[in-house]
This record gives sequence, structure tokens and C-alpha cells, in this order.
Amino acid sequence: MKVLVTGAGGQLGSELCARLSRAGHAAIPFTRNDVDFTQVARVRDALAAHQAEWVVNCAAYTQVDKAESDSATAFAVNRDAARAVAEAVTGYGGRLLHVSTDFVFDGTQSHPYREDDTPNPIGVYAQSKWDGEQAVRAVLPEALIVRTAWVHGTHGNNFVKTMLRLAAEREELRVVDDQIGSPSWTGDIADALIVLMQQDARGCYHFTNEGVASWYDFAVAIIHEARVLGFPIKVQRVTPIPTSGYPTPARRPAYSVLDKQKIRAVLGRPIPHWREALVSMLRELQK
Ligand SMILES: NC(=O)c1ccc[n+]([C@@H]2O[C@H](COP(=O)([O-])OP(=O)(O)OC[C@H]3O[C@@H](n4cnc5c(N)ncnc54)[C@H](OP(=O)(O)O)[C@@H]3O)[C@@H](O)[C@H]2O)c1
Repeated sequence: MKVLVTGAGGQLGSELCARLSRAGHAAIPFTRNDVDFTQVARVRDALAAHQAEWVVNCAAYTQVDKAESDSATAFAVNRDAARAVAEAVTGYGGRLLHVSTDFVFDGTQSHPYREDDTPNPIGVYAQSKWDGEQAVRAVLPEALIVRTAWVHGTHGNNFVKTMLRLAAEREELRVVDDQIGSPSWTGDIADALIVLMQQDARGCYHFTNEGVASWYDFAVAIIHEARVLGFPIKVQRVTPIPTSGYPTPARRPAYSVLDKQKIRAVLGRPIPHWREALVSMLRELQK
């Protein structure tokens, strides 16, 4: 497959490019240097020039808190540029895989969200991503849309890297324990995306690693596994705190576990548990 990956310098985009190449596919990394997605009018021609069989849209404005005060940029990248990507692909008859998020849901449910549950975004980033999904679907109803959550990988910044840094510096960490989700490794997400493309999947799918955790559970696991692997760890205590003890500009869903029944049937192999995926990520980071 010839696959163009937008956001190719980001966490997921870079891992996807690496895994596509490793699997013998032609990966075209497409970054902000090719086109800044805030220049929406330039997106269509720049993408169409490559005539890729698949375009995977990993580019996104992902700064959830900053989006609250910079909504124009968030909507330009996550909604308007996403629409332009879909228009480009439609224009030359390619296929589109658009990446979206658990944040489209409000987190008030107490059982995993299915693909057809009703979104109700509770912040600017969340709204811009949901609007992006709808814009993509309106242009290209056949588009493949994959929602994932709590992403970590060796490239870019994420919760795992933040915990490793703080755990090497501090005696105590205080971590929110009343937000529940499924930590997901870019390696496993990228592999799942490749299978979906190979199977020419269409419509919406949820993918995360298996299992659920609070941010506190995740932090405890990161520190334990990092210590076992020999990372420098100074921290002695990880203290659970409520969300109210760590105020942020953007509200976050309290429960954002995604139901994976639909994608399990397509993948045809077990999805690794988040803890196993965490160890894989830490081993890669160690290299
Ligand atoms: N991170 C998570 O926890 C999470 C959770 C659920 C879903 N997702 C979704 O997963 C996808 C990938 O996320 P990620 O974690 O890989 O994000 P990321 O590491 O922040 O990568 C996003 C990429 O988008 C690019 N980008 C941002 N603004 C741009 C602009 N104006 N023009 C061109 N490129 C721009 C960034 O380029 P620069 O490197 O130049 O800034 C970066 O390469 C996104 O759709 C995100 O919404 C992420």
C-alpha cells in the first residue's frame, strides 16, 4: 500500500510510518513543513499531489487545555483541515483513515462506549474533534474513522514520559484517580490501523489496549515497571487525588473506556493489555 501519513512527526504518525515501512508498505510522511493545517486552503492540493492509496490523518491540535483559549486554531486543524483532507482524498478517489478520540464522549456512562453511542463533547478540543469526524463523514461517508484514547509512545510527549521525568526528580507524586480509561501504545494502535487498511474497513471503530485504569493506576504501573527495567526512579510515594485537586482549563471525561467488540472481530488476534503494552513501550524507550 502507498500510505500518506499526516502528523508524521507526532506520537502516532511517526510510529505508523515506521511500522508501515517495516511491513513493506510505501509510507509518505507528511508534516507541518509540507503544509501547515491552519492554512486550510492549501491542504487539498498538497495532499492530492501524492495520489496515495490511503491517507491517514494523524495531524491534530492535541493540546487539550490550550485549546480552551485557542479555539480558532483547534477548529481550523481538527475540523476544517480534516474536511479538506477528506475533500482531497475524495477528489482523486483515494481512501481515508481519520484518527479521532474518546473525548467525543462526555464520560458520564459507566460501561464502555460503543461506536454508535451518542457523542457529547465537553471541551473545545473534544468539540473540534467531534466536528472533524462529522465533517469527514459528510464529505466521505465511506471514510474509516478510528477513535483511540490515552495515547503513549516513544515519540513526542505523553503521560508515561512525564511520569518518568517526575519520578526521577521527586519523592512524591500526586495523581488523579477518578478518571478512568485505557492507556494505549502507539505500536499497537499503528498495527491495528494497518490491519484495518489492509482489510479495506469503512465506518467507525474503537481501538485501545485492553483493560482499564485510572491515571493513578497507570502512574503506579509506570513507576513499578520502570524500576524493574532499571530506569532512574527516586519517587517513594504516589498519592491518589481527585480531579478537583488538579484543576485544568479543560474538563475531561470521567469515564472514557471504549468498547472494542467491533474491532476485535476484524483484527483476528488478541489486543494486548495496557500493562503489557506499557512494558513494550518502556523497552523501546530504553533502546
Ligand atoms: N494523545 C492522546 O492521548 C490522544 C488520545 C485520543 C486520540 N488522539 C488522537 O490521535 C491522533 C494522533 O495524536 P498524537 O497523540 O499522535 O498527537 P501529537 O503527538 O500531538 O501529534 C499531532 C501531530 O499533528 C501535527 N499538527 C498539529 N498542528 C498542526 C498544524 N497546524 N499543521 C500541521 N500539522 C499539525 C503535529 O505537528 P508538530 O509536531 O509540528 O506540532 C503533530 O505531528 C490525533 O487525531 C489525536 O486527536 C490522541
